[in-house]
Amino acid sequence: MSIKVAVLLSGSGTTLQNLIDRIERGELDASIACVVSSRKSAFGLERARNHGIPAVAVHRKDYEDLDAFNRDIWEAVRRHEAELVVLAGFMSLLEIPKDFAGRVINIHPALIPSFCGKGMYGHHVHEAVIESGVKLTGVTVHFADDEYDHGPIILQDAVPVLDNDTPDSLAERVQAMERELYPKAIQLFAEGRVVLDGRRVRTT
Ligand code: GAR
Repeated sequence: MSIKVAVLLSGSGTTLQNLIDRIERGELDASIACVVSSRKSAFGLERARNHGIPAVAVHRKDYEDLDAFNRDIWEAVRRHEAELVVLAGFMSLLEIPKDFAGRVINIHPALIPSFCGKGMYGHHVHEAVIESGVKLTGVTVHFADDEYDHGPIILQDAVPVLDNDTPDSLAERVQAMERELYPKAIQLFAEGRVVLDGRRVRTT
């Protein structure tokens, strides 16, 4: 069963590109209804247009009012009839309306609830992981709620931190895991195999 997805991003869009590639190779049963960026200059918008996907910028800095920003984001998502919202490096806090509760997912490049929250994205995460001395980090796909990197966890997998890792080398290993885990979670959701039960998620 193919699902219509809206991808929300703020940056380069490598996560988006992976989803596009998987869909085009027939490995993910979904279609991307639209891409919405909180930054006009995000390269992710260009990636979308290169594949004929409607791409909209809702530039956060043009809005003094967070409510108006959120309203325009959801207007774009609804206009394109998306059934699932996939956050892919979306750097603003999103207010999730009631009818989209349990239909917004996020990926985080660490094992939530560690190394997450406001300001914890991309390289900041990997720097903090190495600095802390932990031996394992990983990837988390979770339902989004009204806090950064917070909602119920759908899938999680671990990545080792090696003695000679730099933030760059660790990021490479974590991103390879992200490229596997996000399409897998979307496919499970599309097949109705993700069951939310309070804070816990069962995949059937
Ligand atoms: C991804 O690595 C994603 O895990 C991270 O942002 C990156 C987006 O990269 N998200 C977070 O850190 C969420 N807190 P991209 O713009 O190249 O897809």
